[in-house]
Amino acid sequence: MTDPADRETGKHTSLSSADSLLENYILRHIEPESDYLKALYRATHIKLLRPRMASGHLQGRMLKMFVRMIQPREVLEIGTYSGYSALCLAEALPDNAMLHTFEINDEQEDFTRPWLEQSPYADKIRFYIGDALKLVPGMDVQFDLAFIDGDKRRYTDYYEMVMEKLKPGGYILADNTLWDGHVVEQPYPTDAQTAGIMHFNDRVATDGRVETVILPLRDGLTVIRKKTVND
Ligand SMILES: C[S@@+](CC[C@H](N)C(=O)[O-])C[C@H]1O[C@@H](n2cnc3c(N)ncnc32)[C@H](O)[C@@H]1O
Repeated sequence: MTDPADRETGKHTSLSSADSLLENYILRHIEPESDYLKALYRATHIKLLRPRMASGHLQGRMLKMFVRMIQPREVLEIGTYSGYSALCLAEALPDNAMLHTFEINDEQEDFTRPWLEQSPYADKIRFYIGDALKLVPGMDVQFDLAFIDGDKRRYTDYYEMVMEKLKPGGYILADNTLWDGHVVEQPYPTDAQTAGIMHFNDRVATDGRVETVILPLRDGLTVIRKKTVND
């Protein structure tokens, strides 16, 4: 059982020593993290509260690979935090593509904006401070890919909003959807974040508009595809 304070953090699963050995093995056999991302990860841990919310090497490379495979033109991210995942998504974007990333916490801006704007991918990233649930519906953009990584209590709200702005055939990646295993704990959890994730998982699993798979990687990553009229 994880300390509830740890549940706040997102990418937090504590690893057994066997898992830790495997994770180290994996990290030695995938594309290395750039020096820029290493420096951002270090700065995130030194300067920010709840640094374990940030994606790291493995998750970052996975996000980059998804972008390579999907080749989206317009990408949405809900929950920028220090910008680590934003940089990984932007890294693989084709020419003329754009990542729109939203962060509700305005105190995050002074840290994150320079990391995004001084990166090699600055021209592919638009960074918005504000509540994605309020700002995204007013945008004149249809997305090919959305990465949901905000407040776990609001996942179903993000999902319904994103579905309205997602092109047919577009994809949603939702992070932390196994929530350190709390989704299968009995009795029904009283903490709002676990309840939020469980509600989201139930909603997606029964939504005929989409195809869904949950990857049991780290804290769970759900991959959702919005069906087209031909599906
Ligand atoms: C888990 S962190 C994001 C980590 C980042 N995506 C990464 O992987 O490096 C979640 C972030 O979502 C932000 N957030 C929560 N609700 C939000 C909302 N409605 N709109 C935009 N950002 C939100 C939080 O302030 C927090 O910084």
